[in-house]
Amino acid sequence: MIPTHIVNWRDESVLKNILNDTPLDWPSIFQNHHPIDLEIGIGNGSFLVPFVRDHAGRNMVGIEIESFYARKADKNLVKDNLTNGRVLIGDAKLLTWKLFAPRSIDNVYINFPDPWFKKRHKKRRMVNPLTLSMLASKMRSILTIATDDEEYRDWVIECIEETQCFGKVYPDYFINTLEGYYPTKYEKKWRAQGKNIFYMKFQKIAEPNLNIDEYILTQNLRFVLDKIASKIAL
Ligand SMILES: C[S@@+](CC[C@H](N)C(=O)[O-])C[C@H]1O[C@@H](n2cnc3c(N)ncnc32)[C@H](O)[C@@H]1O
Repeated sequence: MIPTHIVNWRDESVLKNILNDTPLDWPSIFQNHHPIDLEIGIGNGSFLVPFVRDHAGRNMVGIEIESFYARKADKNLVKDNLTNGRVLIGDAKLLTWKLFAPRSIDNVYINFPDPWFKKRHKKRRMVNPLTLSMLASKMRSILTIATDDEEYRDWVIECIEETQCFGKVYPDYFINTLEGYYPTKYEKKWRAQGKNIFYMKFQKIAEPNLNIDEYILTQNLRFVLDKIASKIAL
């Protein structure tokens, strides 16, 4: 068997977890009770891999929708035998919601989310008031979001204020240099072009009041849930 740190949500057992609303048992997957952090949209693992290497006393799950990139990240975890990192391939809007118990994640990181500039595409953004509420329900501590885009930065701040579950860590909401932060592939790319980077950190301060039906509808999850249900029924 090829060694892998990928937790495959298409495995029938994991599909059942999704359908039955049973989160994965992450402490048994990691074989420890260390705190669990989550990175959404890991790309090739340029943040996840050094993070887990430097934090042996923590676990991190990275979610990536593009399997090509997720497999690259996995390859690096396997190469260095970094057993405190795991990769989930799929949509973080579905997998975070379904595979993590309430308040089971310590910190969440979203590095350079796709900005989806066009007005009609904005609903595809990873950050919106409902995804932030969903994340708030799963986490306990700090949400970090990094972006190079001013409009996206302001959008994040607007969504955070609307959600009312987070308090800003930085008085001006963001800072432009964050000492010790692992530069991702996209961060390097934007810095090479002379762009400003905006790092935002938010402390979870309240539990959300998430309307699940609205979440499923607005995040376009009905189709995939129905597909999983029909697959399991076969
Ligand atoms: C602009 S790239 C940034 C990659 C990496 N974080 C970096 O900074 O180098 C955004 C990443 O988010 C992933 N992504 C987009 N939507 C996603 C979703 N719904 N769930 C998981 N990953 C997603 C994309 O496939 C892509 O790898």
